[in-house]
Amino acid sequence: MEPKQQKINEIIGINGKKGSGKSYFVQHKIIPSLGAFIILDKMEEYRGGMVFENPGIMKTYIQRMIKAGKMYKCIFRWTNDDQIEQVWEMLCDGEKMLLENFTLVVEEVDLYCDSYGIQPELDYLIRYGRHDSVSLIWVSRSPFEINRMLTRLTDVYVTFVQSEPRDINWLKDFNWSKDPTTLARYEYGYANLSGDERVLKKFNLI
Ligand SMILES: Nc1ncnc2c1ncn2[C@@H]1O[C@H](COP(=O)(O)OP(=O)(O)OP(=O)(O)O)[C@@H](O)[C@H]1O
Ligand SMILES: [Mg+2]
Repeated sequence: MEPKQQKINEIIGINGKKGSGKSYFVQHKIIPSLGAFIILDKMEEYRGGMVFENPGIMKTYIQRMIKAGKMYKCIFRWTNDDQIEQVWEMLCDGEKMLLENFTLVVEEVDLYCDSYGIQPELDYLIRYGRHDSVSLIWVSRSPFEINRMLTRLTDVYVTFVQSEPRDINWLKDFNWSKDPTTLARYEYGYANLSGDERVLKKFNLI
């Protein structure tokens, strides 16, 4: 079977306070429409893929699937920093992406960036991932705290309810489909910065 080519190469950011529905949304609204993916699932919130804790075994699995023309769907969980560092190295060597046509889902993206710095491989993916049809879904409670390179290059935002003043202040500049402070539990608003409507349709945000 030929793998379905992923046509999208977008950056989508999901934010909202604790327990507001972010991971549930990604699991149920986004994951089912993805082709090949790797989820960095630190908090063990996801299902619907092969679960790995060893980067080497995941790499072998991905290579085997690509060779067989099959789609890989990987959920990576880890306990020490070496393991996640190896995954970043598997994705990008600093000069090019080492995998193409897939989506990276990064839960708790603030583990890999803050206002001052960013994981180099993530930085590369954000800047140049579109050349290799690599999409990124990032999830964070607080958009205020993450790296500006990431927020600047995000195409579509989804927000669940926010109550932290500095996050609300940061969010106010976007043209939200619904005011982020008035959202009910599990309700979301979105802002499309790319002006590309197919993204909204693809992810059934409306
Ligand atoms: N749309 C929904 N419909 C029904 N239940 C939901 C919905 N969204 C979330 N929930 C329930 O609420 C719980 C919390 O949601 P979720 O795990 O998505 O929060 P979160 O925003 O990812 O929180 P955290 O920042 O702590 O990771 C889920 O385990 C699920 O049971
Ligand atoms: Mg979550």
